[in-house]
Amino acid sequence: MLAVPMLEQTVQIVSNERDTDSYFRLVLRAPQIAPLIQPGQFAHVRVLPLKGALLRRPFSIFQVTGDTFSILYKTVGQGTEALARMGSGEELSAIAPLGHGFTVPRRGGETPLLVAGGYGMAAMYLLAQRSPQKGIVFVGGRRRIDILCEKEFEALGWDVRTTTEDGSHGEKGLVTQPLLKELKRKAPYRKVFACGPTGMLGAVGKIAGEFNVPAELSMDEHMCCGVGVCLTCVIPIKTGDGWEYQRTCTEGPVFDAREVVWETVK
Ligand SMILES: Cc1cc2nc3c(=O)[nH]c(=O)nc-3n(C[C@H](O)[C@H](O)[C@H](O)COP(=O)(O)OP(=O)(O)OC[C@H]3O[C@@H](n4cnc5c(N)ncnc54)[C@H](O)[C@@H]3O)c2cc1C
Ligand code: FES
Repeated sequence: MLAVPMLEQTVQIVSNERDTDSYFRLVLRAPQIAPLIQPGQFAHVRVLPLKGALLRRPFSIFQVTGDTFSILYKTVGQGTEALARMGSGEELSAIAPLGHGFTVPRRGGETPLLVAGGYGMAAMYLLAQRSPQKGIVFVGGRRRIDILCEKEFEALGWDVRTTTEDGSHGEKGLVTQPLLKELKRKAPYRKVFACGPTGMLGAVGKIAGEFNVPAELSMDEHMCCGVGVCLTCVIPIKTGDGWEYQRTCTEGPVFDAREVVWETVK
């Protein structure tokens, strides 16, 4: 296992603004953490004003600018709602950067096909920005308001294909439909990278496997410690002669799709 540098720090909120509906963008000043961050890694954040909540919440690192990094989060419960009430100048505790991220495509290497569902777009953005080789980003969500940073991907020069389940923006349907169409073109040297709900990741892994295209998937399981101690986050991963549980917080969150034992992933 690779030793990954990480720091626990009290970091200051630069801004915390609503993006669309229940999605927020949080920018944190973290001069020691920001230069260490690799695409696909996450920050484990403790909301200091949240009474009685000792547990941290994991969030993919969305953007890195100078001495700051940002996260793009959706309010779903107590922790994220408390986070949404915080403002600039307030402080959080963050352990970051954590986890084993994506392999950044090489210039002249495989064409990257990025697949992002909902807040999974956050993990994909830094990969798109750091990749010298541009490709296609497939972004999908239930409704128009679940489509995030489409313009930012376009500004990086990527070809963006959007789907919504209700047809309110882009093509109507699941994000896997345009991916399937693209893979049927049988162009050589492609690689899939994906982050989103587990069901979507399973479908992406299956489709990539059918076309014999390699795929790296960010498996966002529920986490407690975030640093490899509690084993809350394990998923079954194939080994030479069987399978073993591996921790998504340390060996992951990014895994090769061919190694995941999908039958037993919930
Ligand atoms: C590696 C990783 C990266 C993540 N990146 C992002 C991100 O970039 N943006 C973002 O908005 N969220 C991200 N998440 C999910 C985020 O951590 C949870 O939404 C958050 O912890 C919920 O905290 P809460 O206290 O608001 O909700 P809770 O009260 O703890 O839970 C509210 C609801 O959210 C569900 N939930 C909690 N954690 C997860 C999870 N990991 N996956 C699916 N459902 C969950 C619970 O089952 C429950 O139904 C990531 C998770 C992981 C493991
Ligand atoms: S969250 Fe504790 S081991 Fe992964």
